[in-house]
Amino acid sequence: MDKKKIIIDCDPGYDDAVAILLAAGSPAIDLLAITTVAGNQTIEKVTKNALRIAKLAHLENVPIAAGASRPLLRQAVTVAANIHGESGLDGTTLPEAEYKVDPRHAAQLIVDVVMREPEKTVTLVPIGPLTNIALAARIEPKIVDRVKEVVLMGGGAHIGNIKPMAEFNIENDPEAAHIVFEEKWPIVMVGLDLTYQALATAAVKEKIAEIDTPAARFLTQVLARFSENYKRSKGFDEPPVHDPCAVARVIDETIVKAVSAPIHVEYRGDYTAGMTVTDLRGKVPADCHTSVALELDRERFWNLIIEAAKRL
Ligand code: BDR
Ligand code: CA
Repeated sequence: MDKKKIIIDCDPGYDDAVAILLAAGSPAIDLLAITTVAGNQTIEKVTKNALRIAKLAHLENVPIAAGASRPLLRQAVTVAANIHGESGLDGTTLPEAEYKVDPRHAAQLIVDVVMREPEKTVTLVPIGPLTNIALAARIEPKIVDRVKEVVLMGGGAHIGNIKPMAEFNIENDPEAAHIVFEEKWPIVMVGLDLTYQALATAAVKEKIAEIDTPAARFLTQVLARFSENYKRSKGFDEPPVHDPCAVARVIDETIVKAVSAPIHVEYRGDYTAGMTVTDLRGKVPADCHTSVALELDRERFWNLIIEAAKRL
C-alpha cells in the first residue's frame, strides 16, 4: 500500500497533539513536515509543543518549521488558553525537545516540500488558522495545482464555536481562510458538523488508559485535561477531539464521509466574519472543488487512534 504523504500545519494544542500522534502512529501515513501557526497559543509556545510531541512520537527526521505569529490583516491571534492552558498543553508531561526548528518559514517549507514531491501526491492537513497555507499559495501559486488535496479542520456548515456561526480556526484569520477556500485545489472541510461526533467518551478514555506506551500515557493526560476544560469552559460532558478527524479522513475516507458542496468564507460581516457559508441545497456545480464532512464512523475513528497509541 502506498503511504499517503501529508504535511500537518498545526497549533498544538491538545487535539493537535492527538492529530500528530495519529499521523505518526498510522502505517498509512508518511508525514513529510510539520509546520506551526499561532492559534491555540503563541507561535513560540505551539512550536515548542510541536517539537516535544514530535520527540515523543519518534519524528526526529521530520522537519518542523515555525510560521505566522498573527493573522494576515487582523491585529492579533485569539489564543484559546481557556481550553488549552497557558502552555497550550497544560497538565501533560513531554520529553524536552533536543532537535532544532527548521530555519525556513513554515510557508516556505510547505512550498519546498510540495514542489519537490511528484505532482498530486501531497495532501495538506491544516488544523489551525489558515495563515501559513494562504501565504504558501501566494509565495508559489504553482502549489495549488500540485497539491493532491487540502483536508482541513475548521469551519462548519451548520454551527460555530467561537461565534454563533464561526469556528475558531477560520475566525482567527478569515482573510487567510478566504484565500484558501477560493483557490481551486480540492478541499475537504472537516468542521464542527463532523468533529462534534468525535467525543472522547469515558469508554474511549478507559481503553487508551489501558495501553502501556509513552504515547498512550500522554494521550491519557491530554484527554483528561481537555475533558475538564471543555466541561468548565463550554459545558460539554465529553470533549470533541477535532483535529485528528482531518488525519482520519486522509487515512480512510469511509471513516469521515463528506459530500460535495460549494463553500465560501465570509470575512466582512459584523456578526458573521469567519462563517463558512456552505451550500447544501443540493444543486452542486460540476466544477465544485469543495466538500464538507458530515458523518463520522466513531468506532473506526477511535480504533485508529488506539492502534496508533499502541505502536508509539
Ligand atoms: C479548533 O480550534 C482549536 O482550538 C482546536 O485545536 C481545533 O483545531 C476547533 O475549533
Ligand atoms: Ca488546532
